[in-house]
Amino acid sequence: PEAITVQELAKRMGERGADLVKALFKMGTPVTITETIDQDTAELLIEEFGHRINRVSEADIDIDTSTDVDAEETLKPRPPVVTIMGHVDHGKTSLLDAIRGASVQSGEAGGITQHIGAYQVSLPDKSKVTFLDTPGHEAFSEMRARGANVTDIVILVVAADDGLRPQTIEAINHTKAAGVPMIVAINKVDKPEAKPQKVREELLQHEIIVEDMGGEVQDVEVSATKKTGLDKLLEAIELQAEILELKANPDRAAEGTVIEAKLDKGRGPLATVLVQRGTLRVGDVFVAGASSGKVRAMIDDKGRQVKEAGPSFPVEVLGLSAVPSAGDPFTVVENEARAREVADYRKGVLDKKRTTAAPVSIENMFSAHA
Ligand code: GTP
Ligand code: MG
Repeated sequence: PEAITVQELAKRMGERGADLVKALFKMGTPVTITETIDQDTAELLIEEFGHRINRVSEADIDIDTSTDVDAEETLKPRPPVVTIMGHVDHGKTSLLDAIRGASVQSGEAGGITQHIGAYQVSLPDKSKVTFLDTPGHEAFSEMRARGANVTDIVILVVAADDGLRPQTIEAINHTKAAGVPMIVAINKVDKPEAKPQKVREELLQHEIIVEDMGGEVQDVEVSATKKTGLDKLLEAIELQAEILELKANPDRAAEGTVIEAKLDKGRGPLATVLVQRGTLRVGDVFVAGASSGKVRAMIDDKGRQVKEAGPSFPVEVLGLSAVPSAGDPFTVVENEARAREVADYRKGVLDKKRTTAAPVSIENMFSAHA
C-alpha cells in the first residue's frame, strides 16, 4: 500500500487518531484524520510512537503492531543497561571508572564528561552489565534525557558532601518520567564533611524513600576514589536486574539507538550504538537517523574488533555516510537502496522539523520511545 488514511493507521497501531494527527503536525505534515499519508510518513509515525515496522517485502510494510512484538519463545536473557546520572562533579565518571577498574575521568578535558560513554562490565557471576555515563553539565541535559530512554536502571549519584542539587532533581524527574527503577549511590562518603543521612532525608522531599528509611529504593554508600561499597552497588544492580527479567530476541535484524556519534579525521563518521534487539553484524546495511551505511567494522568498549553484537551490547560502528545524532534510532534494513530511501526521507523531515517545530523538549523525547 502506497498510502493509508490516518484513521486506518491509528486503528492498526492501536493509537488514538487525534494523537497521530498531533504527531504528524509536529513532524511538519499537517493533515486531518480522514486524509491519506504516504508509506514513508506512516513508517516514521510508527517509529515515533515506539512501534516497530515489520516489513513483508521491500515495497510493502506490515504495520500491524501485533507482529511487532517478538514471540515469547524467541526471547533470551540480556544484560541490564544502567545509566549513571547525577549533578556535575558528584562523581559519575569516577564511580564508573572504579567499577571498570580503569580511568576515563583523569583523561577528560576539565574533568567534565563531554559525551555519553558506554561500557560493559562482567560481574563475578559472569553476567554482564552495560553502563552509560552521562554528562553532568546543564547544557547536556538533552543527551542525558536520551540516555534514560534506552536504560533499564538508573543509578543516581549524589555526593554526600553536597547533597541534592539542581541536576540531581532533574535526573530524579527524568527517571520518574521514564518509569525506570532507581538505585541511589551516595558517593564521596570518605570525605570528613560527608552527610549520607542528610542525602536520604533530602530524597524524601522528592518522594524517594530509600531502603534505609523503610522504603523500596536501594541505597548504597560508596566512595569512588577509595573504591568502597562497589560490590554492594553491583549486588544492588544484579538484584534489580533479576526483578526486571530483561529479555530480547537476538535472532533477528538488529535495532538499537545511537548513543554518541562523531566525525573522526581518519576513520570518518563514527557512532556508538547500543543494540537493543537482534544481532548486528559486519556487512549489515542500516539506517541511523538520517544517515545510512553498511557496517564496515565494529569495535567494542575495550577497543577490540568484533564481528557481531547482540542485545544490550554497545559497539562503535564504522561505515556511516554521515554523522547521526545521539538518540537516533539505528535499524538494519534489507538493502542499500532501501537504507538511502529511508535516510533521505528522514533527512527531509528533520530539515522541516528544524524550521517549523518547537525545540525538542525533554518531555517529548521521553515519550517518543516510552
Ligand atoms: P561531570 O561528568 O562533570 O558531571 O562529573 P562527574 O559526576 O563525572 O564527576 P567526576 O567523576 O569527574 O568527579 C568529580 C570530582 O570529584 C573529581 O575531582 C573526583 O576525583 C572527585 N570524586 C569523585 N568521587 C569521589 C569520592 O568518592 N571521594 C572523593 N573524595 N572525591 C571524589
Ligand atoms: Mg563525568
